[in-house]
Amino acid sequence: MPSVKLFAGEKSTYLAEEIAEYYGRRLGKMTTKRFSDGEFQPEMKESVRGKTVFLIQSTFTPTDNFFELLLMIDACKRASADYIVAVIPYFGFARQDRKDKPRVAIGAKLIANMLTTAGANRIMTMDLHAAQIQGFFDIPFDHLDSSYIFVPYIKRLKLKDLIIAAPDVGSTHRARVYAMHLGTDFVICDKYRKKANEVAEMTVIGDVKGKHVVMIDDLIDTGNTLAKAAKMLKENGAKSVRAFCTHPVLSGDAYKNIENSVLEELVVCNTIPTKDSCSKIRSISVAQLFAKAIRNAHEHESISSLFIQTTK
Ligand code: R5P
Repeated sequence: MPSVKLFAGEKSTYLAEEIAEYYGRRLGKMTTKRFSDGEFQPEMKESVRGKTVFLIQSTFTPTDNFFELLLMIDACKRASADYIVAVIPYFGFARQDRKDKPRVAIGAKLIANMLTTAGANRIMTMDLHAAQIQGFFDIPFDHLDSSYIFVPYIKRLKLKDLIIAAPDVGSTHRARVYAMHLGTDFVICDKYRKKANEVAEMTVIGDVKGKHVVMIDDLIDTGNTLAKAAKMLKENGAKSVRAFCTHPVLSGDAYKNIENSVLEELVVCNTIPTKDSCSKIRSISVAQLFAKAIRNAHEHESISSLFIQTTK
């Protein structure tokens, strides 16, 4: 079996170092040459010939992060790597997963084409905005699930009268799965947007009176959805409201929105780095999970053994 090398994109080094530590191997050496106009060129400073390489890079904004990953893949392909795995803890552009109005791109499909054309042989990611994005690829795809991390945390809270909430209709499936894992009911917040990132109206489908509500979502961006949903759930009689969102995009006034909201806490994963400026945000590391998944993928072991098993 070819030996493994792990490399990190610049802005994901904080996470890749932790993954590498759990994996028991140091990160491969890489440098990035920068031209004065901003153009850049990553260079692997050690041989990858005949190796299985795992290139770790979350593709959050700016787009340079995604482009750096493409250049890393291309560099490994041209340096005769045997097998190239793009490890993308946060898969950006996933909100563009369909043509829902005229004259818009399907960004996620374009990203898939670019990764494959660059030379990726396999993709590993976590909590895609829409699971169907896997179908945009014709190469193996490992889709990890944050319930492995969040469910034990929620159980440790020992909340009586717990109920799960989907903060919008798109999160219904995710909320249902969590409700199954935790043996609770779930409700749905129905939101209507006039434009991207702006929530106009919200209502709840289900009863949250006297309940401790845990909202589940794949990502939080401006925090408008969660802040509005939390307020509305409290107005409907919830005892407390928490939110668990895998990817902390946290743009615009997000930190302020969360701090000023009625949320008890917002728990996220470190697929994207966060600032320490909000007392309500806790970040949990995905490093150990990714290290296990990388090992299992390389050793042809099960990835689903890293999912929470439910009997229902
Ligand atoms: C929507 O479909 C997503 O799952 C999130 O609920 C949404 O993108 C969060 O956006 P914001 O935090 O800007 O309201």
